[in-house]
Amino acid sequence: MVEEPDDNPYVQTPDTSFDPVERMEERAARKQAERLREAIGYHDYRYYVANDPVIADRTYDTLFDRLQELEAAFDLDDENSPTRRVGGEPLDELETVEHVAPMLSLQSSGDPEEIREFDRRIREAVGEVNYSVEPKFDGLSIEVVYEDGVFVRAVTRGDGEKGDDVSASLRTVGSVPLRLPDGPDLLAVRGEVYMPRSGFQDLNERRIERGDDPFANPRNAAAGTIRLLDPETVASRPLEVYFYDVIETSATLRSQTTAVDLLRDLGFRVDDETAVVDDIEGILDYRDRLMDERADLEYEIDGVVAKVVDFAARERLGSTARHPRWAFAYKFPARTGETTVERIVVQVGRTGKLTPVALLDPVDVRGVTISRATLHNATHVRELGVREGATVRIERAGDVIPEVVEVTGPAAGESDDAGFAMPETCPVCGGRVVEEGEYHFCANASCPAQLKRSIQHFCSRDAMDIQGVGERTAEQLVDEGLVDSVADLYDLDRAALTELSGWGERSADNLLAELEASEGATLGTFLYALGIRHVGTERARALAAAFPLSRLMDASAEALRAVEDVGPEVAEAVTAFFQTPANVETVERLAAAVAPERRAGDGNGDGELDGLTVVFTGSVPGYTRSELSDLLERHGARVTSSVSGETDYLVVGENPGTRKRERAAENGVETLDPEAFEKRVLSRIG
Ligand code: IVH
Repeated sequence: MVEEPDDNPYVQTPDTSFDPVERMEERAARKQAERLREAIGYHDYRYYVANDPVIADRTYDTLFDRLQELEAAFDLDDENSPTRRVGGEPLDELETVEHVAPMLSLQSSGDPEEIREFDRRIREAVGEVNYSVEPKFDGLSIEVVYEDGVFVRAVTRGDGEKGDDVSASLRTVGSVPLRLPDGPDLLAVRGEVYMPRSGFQDLNERRIERGDDPFANPRNAAAGTIRLLDPETVASRPLEVYFYDVIETSATLRSQTTAVDLLRDLGFRVDDETAVVDDIEGILDYRDRLMDERADLEYEIDGVVAKVVDFAARERLGSTARHPRWAFAYKFPARTGETTVERIVVQVGRTGKLTPVALLDPVDVRGVTISRATLHNATHVRELGVREGATVRIERAGDVIPEVVEVTGPAAGESDDAGFAMPETCPVCGGRVVEEGEYHFCANASCPAQLKRSIQHFCSRDAMDIQGVGERTAEQLVDEGLVDSVADLYDLDRAALTELSGWGERSADNLLAELEASEGATLGTFLYALGIRHVGTERARALAAAFPLSRLMDASAEALRAVEDVGPEVAEAVTAFFQTPANVETVERLAAAVAPERRAGDGNGDGELDGLTVVFTGSVPGYTRSELSDLLERHGARVTSSVSGETDYLVVGENPGTRKRERAAENGVETLDPEAFEKRVLSRIG
């Protein structure tokens, strides 16, 4: 437990009646900033590591704001100020730096005989020992170096000798200490960066909402995030670290337990699952226990690590070039399976993206039967060397779509096979296939595969919410020739519908009623429903607020980029969409049928909430984000995705992010909890 700073007025019941900065002398300002940094560092520890905050969030925000204000007014720059948590300047690239000492890896196996053998060798060499047993975190290994009690850098493992300097990213992780008031002169620690399961799911939901591709699993998400060049984006993502080792220090340490105690006392986040056992049976039991608890943990683990506790014994055991002889990773049976690829097929998605998929001889992977696995793209297939008939290892990682991770055996007699090639024409419509980076797309906008997916998307709940049009109906409508373009939906004829197999008058009438009810949707909903790449619900809304439909259709990439959260890739996707004549025709016909209305708080509305700008973080019980946004916009409010000076309210729901709250505090934006939101906003629209 870190001790409370002495004699600091901002720790317990802080006095937040600050003098205006303009009236402060520089010396007093420096002193106040220093005390605020010390206090905020302590509050971060209490909040993120000890899970036992001393002060209310609001008070914390006031201290934080004050520190930012002082730093700005008096140019008090400090890399390790807690204000860096919200992100600093974007970097041009990551620098490669050397580790303080080589970052070794671990001997590992899932075979109990091998861990018994490890234990025997140890006892032969040094006699009986105790083992520290720990979860084997499935994240990314990181080295963090402190000199004279301050954070100097964080480096990825890289090749073990050198790695990438990710200091700016790691500084944004609230639980990582930036200062160690009682730290040794030198301390290099090792830990694992990961993304908690719940945070990973939220992040993916948000990405899908925005029209971005979701991450495959928490590990990829953490790895992708830590190497981002923009610390502000990193700060908005839920990263965590567990520290488990001291790599190098000027302090004297005798054992793993004293090392971990030191880390804990200095304020590092260490995992309480760690235990000490006195023999091999203890390791095996610990492993069985964690196997059972695995699904309940907030992080992914892929085994347990056993380490000799006593450092003198470690010294005698020594290390090979790659791994220490005193530690061993006992891996869980992987959630992988081996099977053969029966066929590789190519699927066409809504945006026309071609995805190779392996159809497998069905295999049970820890309780789930897997018969297909994604191969992502042609490059991936080539790099793995997957072909029909090959034996492959597939993996279910982080409860997502299974993927082929390795080819373990070529198929007998298949060696002449030229291997997989992306088709030159679309497997569904025969249209032209175009390459974009690693991906291939069908260029035919009226490709039936794309059309079916587009219809499904157009009718989905967050889009036009036309109930009853799922995968099967979309297929039927296209295959039976009733719909050649999404716009044909609004020309559907009752007689033709009733003739479809499985349809009667009731279902036909229901669909027609649903279609009619969708008329007059908001422009934001309509734009989202069009299924333009990278345009999820939020970006669609932002575009609708910025342009009427006719102007949006002609907007230049430059004009689009002026819209919130629209970067070059998104702008390019939008212009490309509206430059395709078939799309223009569809949109014009749809617009005539639907007559989408622009009501997104752009001054055109006459709603009860005209002129109100609202941002959400976390979820409001009883509503999806998109239902709420729709509701507010229908009444004239504007719902945006980031907090600025123009925001009226930040609605803080369940599991909120920290970034938006910080921005709200910075901009003096009022925050509302769900109850206050109900009273202050929802009640105005009845
Ligand atoms: S100790 C010299 N402990 O597993 C010993 N590693 O090679 C250093 N890992 O790259 C590693 N959890 O990233 C250790 N509790 C734990 C760990 C752990 C995960 C990772 C580490 C390493 C990989 C195995």
